[in-house]
Amino acid sequence: MDKTVNKEILKVKDLSISFTQYNGLKKETLQTIHNLNVSVHEKEIVAIVGASGSGKSLLAHSILGILPYNAHINGEIYFCGELLTEEKKKMERGKNIALIPQSISYLNPLMKIGPQIRKGDNSFKAKQKCSEILKKYRLDEKIANMYPFQLSGGMIRRVLISTAVYSSPKLILADEPTPGLDSKTLKHIAEHFQELANEGMGVLIITHDLDMALKIANRIVVFYDGITIEDISTDDFSSVDNLNHPYTKALFHAMPQNGFHSFSLEYPLSTSDKKGCSFYNNCSHANCDCLVDIPWKKTNSGFVRCLLEKEEKNALNSF
Ligand SMILES: Nc1ncnc2c1ncn2[C@@H]1O[C@H](COP(=O)(O)OP(=O)(O)OP(=O)(O)O)[C@@H](O)[C@H]1O
Ligand SMILES: [Mg+2]
Repeated sequence: MDKTVNKEILKVKDLSISFTQYNGLKKETLQTIHNLNVSVHEKEIVAIVGASGSGKSLLAHSILGILPYNAHINGEIYFCGELLTEEKKKMERGKNIALIPQSISYLNPLMKIGPQIRKGDNSFKAKQKCSEILKKYRLDEKIANMYPFQLSGGMIRRVLISTAVYSSPKLILADEPTPGLDSKTLKHIAEHFQELANEGMGVLIITHDLDMALKIANRIVVFYDGITIEDISTDDFSSVDNLNHPYTKALFHAMPQNGFHSFSLEYPLSTSDKKGCSFYNNCSHANCDCLVDIPWKKTNSGFVRCLLEKEEKNALNSF
């Protein structure tokens, strides 16, 4: 990555999302995201890595302004230095901010692929651009005249990527962009993300697949139970010694190339105001100091939310 050009494209600052729901007649608030911070710069690929249900898709939907009606959002989101209001989100989505959605159901089943990618533009120029993009993603241009049900799952994934890049956005939000793709296609997709970043776009990949994230991204943001716990350069994953949070270390040990050491998680700490380290119940070094809001601490290549000192962290380096 060219480190000299680093204009900030996206900045999510202290984002919280909660839902109002009813349990019988009782009104309840479900806090899903708490204190989420992430930024993406020009020419940068950032991966948010977190378990299923940790709030990754909600993050993408909050940036685009497509959260469900019972969601309440707090915190600030900036796009190219400007506060992203709900009005601005509407103007930017599908143009300067594009989503590669997690679910293939985002495609209209009754509309041919071509018009969906071209967003209804039937001009010769638009058709030509559409064919070029399809070719780039190793799809036959003939599929422009097909319906989604005529394509395989892997082809649909590549159509979703084509749809997102068609408008040449400044920011791409890719929500689990690679499930079901074979390793050769994954390699091509990784190269394409790199190409998009080289052209100046910022790419935010949202995934549970750390292995894939390390192959594609420049920076990894680890997400646990709705909170960002570590922000670290991909290069630092070369050794467990460089990792700072016990959860990041556990993810490292769980990777096949690092021994496949599985770990079972206790339920995260459940307090109504979500104060305290969310990894408290799973950390052998946790103490009562960890039961308050943990501030960001600067690390070698990023930030961590953990009070452990270096010697205590080192005790977590091996299995
Ligand atoms: N409309 C809603 N009302 C109440 N809770 C919701 C609503 N939408 C999402 N949630 C909850 O928010 C949490 C985060 O959901 P989200 O879809 O962002 O998870 P995720 O990290 O993307 O998971 P996955 O990896 O499985 O896609 C989940 O626990 C989910 O049940
Ligand atoms: Mg999701």
